[in-house]
Parts: sequence; structure tokens; C-alpha cells
Amino acid sequence: MRIRGPAEHHARDSCPSTEPGVEAVAFVQQISDAEKGEDRTVGTPHSPATDTTYPAPSASTSNGARPLAPAPEVDLGPTGRPRRHIPEPPPLAVHGPAKIIAMCNQKGGVGKTTSTINLGASLAEYGRRVLLVDLDPQGALSAGLGVAHHDLDLTVHNLLVEPRVGIDDVLMRTRVEGLDLLPSNIDLSAAEIQLVSEVGREQALGRALYPALDRYDYVLVDCQPSLGLLTVNALACADSVIIPMECEFFSLRGLALLNDTVAKVRDRLNPRLAVGGIVVTMFDSRTLHAREVMSRVVEVFGDLVYDSVVNRTVKFPETSVAGEPITTWAPKSGGAESYRALAREVIHRSGR
Ligand SMILES: Nc1ncnc2c1ncn2[C@@H]1O[C@H](COP(=O)(O)OP(=O)(O)OP(=O)(O)O)[C@@H](O)[C@H]1O
Ligand SMILES: [Mg+2]
Repeated sequence: MRIRGPAEHHARDSCPSTEPGVEAVAFVQQISDAEKGEDRTVGTPHSPATDTTYPAPSASTSNGARPLAPAPEVDLGPTGRPRRHIPEPPPLAVHGPAKIIAMCNQKGGVGKTTSTINLGASLAEYGRRVLLVDLDPQGALSAGLGVAHHDLDLTVHNLLVEPRVGIDDVLMRTRVEGLDLLPSNIDLSAAEIQLVSEVGREQALGRALYPALDRYDYVLVDCQPSLGLLTVNALACADSVIIPMECEFFSLRGLALLNDTVAKVRDRLNPRLAVGGIVVTMFDSRTLHAREVMSRVVEVFGDLVYDSVVNRTVKFPETSVAGEPITTWAPKSGGAESYRALAREVIHRSGR
């Protein structure tokens, strides 16, 4: 058992940590509300999330009249909620066992891979040992870390379908200290078909990761944009799901579908699975649409939405070409700071 240091106790006590079980129940309710309201115009009045700890954003009183006294000036973050201070994570004296986080959204191009790389690198900067798992045959996670994945002999594919291949045969170090990778390439596309006739086909990833869990604090699994067998494998072994999403109106509907899958996996395969949070990526506060969708997302999902929001910037496509995280390629950029802030929230919520 790991003994927590005084700083860590303080960090946990000073801010209420989110209870995954309670959150998950609230999430189911909220997402079904969102589904019912899917045809409403963005910004239509809607009952706010009951678990939010933020003050209501409305500036008018219940009878519609404006309050007489002007509201005191509050520093609002990009989510429209007051900025909260998340403490610097305390150093860890002992590592493991790892929390497994599935980075998941069946919608394509929403920032799953970018978030996996940069959240992973930021967690590593805070002294956490992190393993990234490329569970997408596109191999974008591996490419984004500068790995020539097309030429690899052993990848996650071998790990999933060949019992003689162990995790250490596939594991690679990255240029970031404390950040390791299980790479993939197009070979992985055969795995869904190969696994289909296997006994325990949904637990293949969990079995493969198990021997290394004590060495890491976090395992981040980059899922492909589908809810097929590979993604179910990630959900079946995960402690939580982080959902990267773009601020578009139809994203809300996609979240309902994802929540159905999460609920099914929780019922049938993995009772500890919880929704860890929603991270808004590619946010452009200059557009009214993005701001309206943001307020709707916060209204529906409350505290599940991370305070840390990643703005749209050309620096991210540039880092893919450079083959390294933004935290090392442009360490002082706003993008790097956003992912560091997200890492602080993730550590704070998971207590690790
Ligand atoms: N904050 C951002 N600002 C601008 N571009 C971004 C941002 N985040 C990601 N991108 C770019 O958007 C594209 C899609 O991002 P990414 O590959 O991370 O999404 P994904 O959800 O993993 O996609 P897929 O579903 O295909 O796996 C990439 O070119 C990436 O560089
Ligand atoms: Mg991706």
C-alpha cells in the first residue's frame, strides 16, 4: 500500500475530489436529458446539472428583473465558470499501480491523439510514469511521437493476438523522460477480426497490460474513432474515460452514443469504469457558436467538463510534423500550458 505524503493529503482535502460513481449516475441522467433536447436550439433554457459546484451563470432574478446591484467582478475561465486554482501536484515517492484512462470519442478528428500525447507528456513532466498505448491502426500516436511505425516488427497487434509476445517485447521509450509507448501500425486493423473468435476477446488488452501496471502511474489508451472491439477492449480494462470533444453542436449527440457504450461495458464487463471528464479541444472563443456550445456543454455536463480548455492553434499540427509533444516543442506556448493545466486536474481528480 502506498503512503500518501502530507502535501498530497492537503491537496486532496483542500478541494472536493469527484466521486466517479456519483458522477457516472449524474452523467447518465444528463446525457439522456441532452438527447431529449437534441432538437432544441443551442442556448434554450435547460435545467442545470445538479452536481455543479459553480454559481448559476444567469444575471437575472427569478421574475426576470435585473438585479439592482452589479455582480462583483469574477474572473471567468473559458468554460464560463470562475477560475479555480488547482494545486501543483506533489511529487510521488512510490509509483504504481497505474490508473488506466481510455481517451475515447467515436467522432473522428476531435483531438484524441493530440490529447493523449500532450496529457501524457504533461503528466510525465509532473514526475508521473506514463505509458501511452496506440490502439488505432492509423498509428497517429506513434507517428506523433516520432516513431517510424510502418517498419516495426512488433506492435500492439502482436501483443493482442500472439500469446508468446509480452509487453516488454513491444514497449518503447520516447524522448520524454518517464513517457513510454506501445506503438501500432496498420497491422492492428486485422486484430478485430482475429480476436472475434477468441474466448475473452474483450479482455485481450487488459491481459496484455497487466504485467506492467505496477511500473506506471497512468496508462493512456488512444482509441480509434469507432466503438468497435478495440475500443471495447480499452473500456473493459480502463478505470475511467476521458472524452476529448470539439465545441460543435452535434458533438452532444455523439456523447450520448458513447455514454450508452460506456454504460453497457460498465454493466457487462467492467463495473469500475467511470467517466473521468470531458476536455474541450480546438476551442475558438472568437466564434459565437463555440461559446454557445461551450455554455450548453457546461450546462448539461457540469463538473464533468474540465476547466482546462485547449484553444485552436496551428502549433498542434506543427507538432505532429515535428514528432514530439507541444510541451517540449513549444514549452511556453498556450497549448503546452493548457495540457499542463489538464494534467493537474487529472492528477487532482484521480488523487495520484
Ligand atoms: N487544439 C488544436 N488546435 C488546432 N489543431 C488541432 C488541435 N488539436 C488537434 N489538432 C489537429 O487536428 C487534427 C486531428 O487531431 P487528432 O489526430 O488529435 O484527432 P483524433 O480525434 O485523434 O482523430 P482520429 O479520430 O482520426 O483518431 C490533427 O491534425 C491535429 O494536429
Ligand atoms: Mg487519433
